[in-house]
Amino acid sequence: MSVSPDRDLQASASERSGAKLPRHVAFIMDGNGRWATSRGLPRTEGHRQGLEALRNMIRHAGKVGIEVVTIYSFSSENWSRPETEVSFLMGLLRRFVQRDLSELHDANVRIRIIGGRNGLDAGILKLLQEAEELTSGNTGLELVVAFNYGARDEIIRAAQVLAQKVAAGEMRPEELTEAALTEQLDTRGLPDPDLIIRTSGEMRLSNFLLWQAAYSEFYFCDLLWPDFDAAAFDKALDCFCARDRRYGGLSAKTY
Ligand code: FPP
Repeated sequence: MSVSPDRDLQASASERSGAKLPRHVAFIMDGNGRWATSRGLPRTEGHRQGLEALRNMIRHAGKVGIEVVTIYSFSSENWSRPETEVSFLMGLLRRFVQRDLSELHDANVRIRIIGGRNGLDAGILKLLQEAEELTSGNTGLELVVAFNYGARDEIIRAAQVLAQKVAAGEMRPEELTEAALTEQLDTRGLPDPDLIIRTSGEMRLSNFLLWQAAYSEFYFCDLLWPDFDAAAFDKALDCFCARDRRYGGLSAKTY
C-alpha cells in the first residue's frame, strides 16, 4: 500500500479547488448493513466490503496529502448489536491490524487508537497497543482509529482527571480551561477535524468527536460506505475547498 503524500496529486487537488485541503478528515463509515441487505447478503458481507473501502480511502488520503484521518470503527454504543455481529466486527478489526499493519508501517503510517480501554478484550487491546508502538516513530499519514469510542465518555474521562487534580490541590478550578480539557482528551496533540464525512444519508454525529467538531465542516453523502471510493472522496474535498470557514468571525472576502 503506497500512502506517502504524492506532491503532484496534492498540487492538482489544491489547484482544482484553489483552496487549502483539510489537514484532518474524520469519517463516520455508515451504511455497511444496508449495502449488504439491499443485495440479499448478510450484514457481515457489508462490513467486509466496508473494510475494502477503508483500505482504498487510506490509500487515497495519503496520495492527496491529508495529514490525519480518523475513522469511527466501533462506537461504545455498538456493543448493543447482536453478539454475532459484534464478534464479526472484532474479528475484522483483528484481521485489519494483523494483515495490514506491516504494509501501513512500510508506508510510514502512524496508528493511534482513541476510545475507552477499560473492559476491552485483552487480546484486542494488546494488538492495538502493538500497532501504536510499532508505528509510533512514523511521520506520514496519522490514522486515528476510534474504537470503543464515545465522545461523551471521552469528555467525562478527561473531566474526571482534571477534577482529581483539583481535589488533590494540584490545580486551581480556574485553571480548568478549554486548553486544559483538550490536553486530557484521547485526541491530545491532534489538530481538530477540519472535515467530517458521513456516508449513507444520515445527518448526525452519533457521539463522535463532539468537543473536537466545534468548527468542523460537515459533508453528508448518500453513498453507502462500501461504495465510497476515490472519486467520492475527491468530491467531498472539492466541496470542503469551496466552503468559507469563518470560525465565528467575518469572511476574508468581506474585509
Ligand atoms: C456502520 O455501518 C459501520 C460500522 C458500525 C462499523 C464500521 C466498520 C467498517 C467500515 C469495516 C471494518 C473496519 C474495521 C477497522 C473493523 P452499519 O452497520 O451501521 O450500516 P447500516 O446503518 O446500514 O446498518
